[in-house]
Amino acid sequence: MTAQLLDGKSLARTIQGEIAVEVAEFIENNTTVPCLATVLVGADPASEVYVRNKRQACERVGMESRHHELSPETTEAELLELVRKLNRDAGVHGILVQLPLPKQITETRILNAVNPAKDVDCFHPENVGLLVQGRPRFLPCTPHGVQQLLLRNGIDTAGKHVVVVGRSDIVGKPLANMLVQKGAGADATVTVCHSRTRDLAAVTRTADILVAAIGRPRFITADMVRPGAVVVDVGINRTAQGLCGDVDFAAVAEVASHITPVPGGVGPLTITMLLKNTLTACREQATT
Ligand code: GUN
Repeated sequence: MTAQLLDGKSLARTIQGEIAVEVAEFIENNTTVPCLATVLVGADPASEVYVRNKRQACERVGMESRHHELSPETTEAELLELVRKLNRDAGVHGILVQLPLPKQITETRILNAVNPAKDVDCFHPENVGLLVQGRPRFLPCTPHGVQQLLLRNGIDTAGKHVVVVGRSDIVGKPLANMLVQKGAGADATVTVCHSRTRDLAAVTRTADILVAAIGRPRFITADMVRPGAVVVDVGINRTAQGLCGDVDFAAVAEVASHITPVPGGVGPLTITMLLKNTLTACREQATT
């Protein structure tokens, strides 16, 4: 392998250490412990692991987490009632409703009901709007993780062509929005590709930085990557052979200059940025 690994796991540990210091200072000065409420509906094994990891990370940095586990038959009205209760609870500063939700529940109705001041996922339309306008209240967790991974590894995005493959509301769209803003870790020229993009490989080969967020195992092959490009793999796919990303890691690592592993790349940073948002939310609520 010739590419340099972008180690998200160790960077996450470093940033969580920084957050832990800030949390301790905050608690000392405010006698309030930042608290994240997590909500899991149903028993999707992957979601259970994600939520457990998020709660353990809260504990590591000295924050509180309160978990709400609801049955797979939960109605939309019942979930809305819980969200409204958490909105009113002054002891809860951030609310995370783990997605996906069971099919009887319309996700947007739930996400729209979260108090924007507690919307640590940055999914509420008010927060997405602020992000697009370049005056964010919160930064969305996975895109922020990608940005930090690049910034703290000395990979400049200014003037670079970033090609994002995938147009999801969780990763592709908000990441593109962040990278076109002015400022550190941004100022990029961004192209967003998706399932209807014509000659996808021709576009991805023009990328200085290629971000794969499609949710298809090993979709990005070596011929789609320009030699020397930086490749960031946001995918986490469960296959018969185990976990893998959206990038054909072994082959692409022979072409790229830098590449993220899966697991141990973007994933740990997503969790870390959630902690950061929870502290930000708590700070804001302490002063208003
Ligand atoms: N499911 C997959 N990714 C996410 C995320 O970032 N936040 C929430 N709430 N659910 C998810």
